[in-house]
Amino acid sequence: MLEIFQTPGKILTGLGCFDQVGKEVAGLGKHCLLVTGEKSMQEQGIFDKAIHLIGKEGCKVTACTGVEHDPSVNTVDRARAVMKKNGCDVVLGLGGGSAIDVAKAAAGLANCDEATLEFFDGKEIPGSGVPVVAAPSTFGTGTEATKVSVLSDHERILKQSIRHDCMLPKVAIVDPIIGADVPPHVTAACGMDALTQGIESYISKHATDMTRAMSFSSIILTITGLPRAFKDGHDIQARENCANGSLMAGIALHNARLGLVHGIAHPLGIHYDIAHGEACGILLPYVLRYNSKAAEDDYQVLASIMAGDPADFCLNLLENLGMPTGLKHIGIKESEFETIAEKSLPSGSTKANPRTVTKEDIIEMLKEMCL
Ligand SMILES: [Fe+2]
Repeated sequence: MLEIFQTPGKILTGLGCFDQVGKEVAGLGKHCLLVTGEKSMQEQGIFDKAIHLIGKEGCKVTACTGVEHDPSVNTVDRARAVMKKNGCDVVLGLGGGSAIDVAKAAAGLANCDEATLEFFDGKEIPGSGVPVVAAPSTFGTGTEATKVSVLSDHERILKQSIRHDCMLPKVAIVDPIIGADVPPHVTAACGMDALTQGIESYISKHATDMTRAMSFSSIILTITGLPRAFKDGHDIQARENCANGSLMAGIALHNARLGLVHGIAHPLGIHYDIAHGEACGILLPYVLRYNSKAAEDDYQVLASIMAGDPADFCLNLLENLGMPTGLKHIGIKESEFETIAEKSLPSGSTKANPRTVTKEDIIEMLKEMCL
């Protein structure tokens, strides 16, 4: 059977690789739209450094800042308007997953006139965008290696993705020093997202030999790096493990998709005040147990990497990272379980889960998580 394995056009890793951002961006265009979040990259001096390095190569820079968590389709419209007004022909996404997702969507829709909402609702992306470069500062989503942009329509309480090959970054720059000052709880939540993505892509219905190689390495890098990076954000070796683990999980999920944890995490994230990585971390042990029979061989491999039951390992890791292990604290009521379950079922992630999922199964799991 035909299997296609896609990665970003070029991947830069290793301490100090961000110094190449100017050359990479200037090699793709003459005027860069720099998309970033609310303050982190500015406070750490990375934003100014990017402008300096890109400008030094003779490429103009216009910034679009203030991208929020769970970015809305309106934020993409704002970035697209700035890009159009200034004639930008290349986009750099710098920061967390949200900033990069907005950068990818803006780049992919660069030559379209319709509002982003139309594409969010299913209109096909024509695929004539401009190139995008992605430089993550948090190591969790792996968005620097995917063609997916996760967006929200807050009015309809909807979180879903738009995707097209043209949104796959031409260059991913994954420097472990970028974002070294993020708070430990952010490192922890992002790391649990990366670990979940490594595991879910490994046991996905669509996994191949190529994606499993990425997933496998990603899991090892994350479980060895995350506890140390959580304790000390400036432990560069640990941070590099997390950075490369997240990148590899991104490559794996881009080609193999995910599973039930992500199917449930998206509706949970938009209905309740819970970070994506935290939701993934809490769901992971429950979903692992649920899948243990359907993915028995893979479960054994995970057990050998983790020197014990994978669900127990993930639960212990959550505790060591000071993260919650249940959902009680988000204020979810039993009467709301059905809505979350119904919104989880149509997700492509849920459909890629190794065990066929029913609404009742999800409700049962949510009940257990709220005990
Ligand atoms: Fe995720």
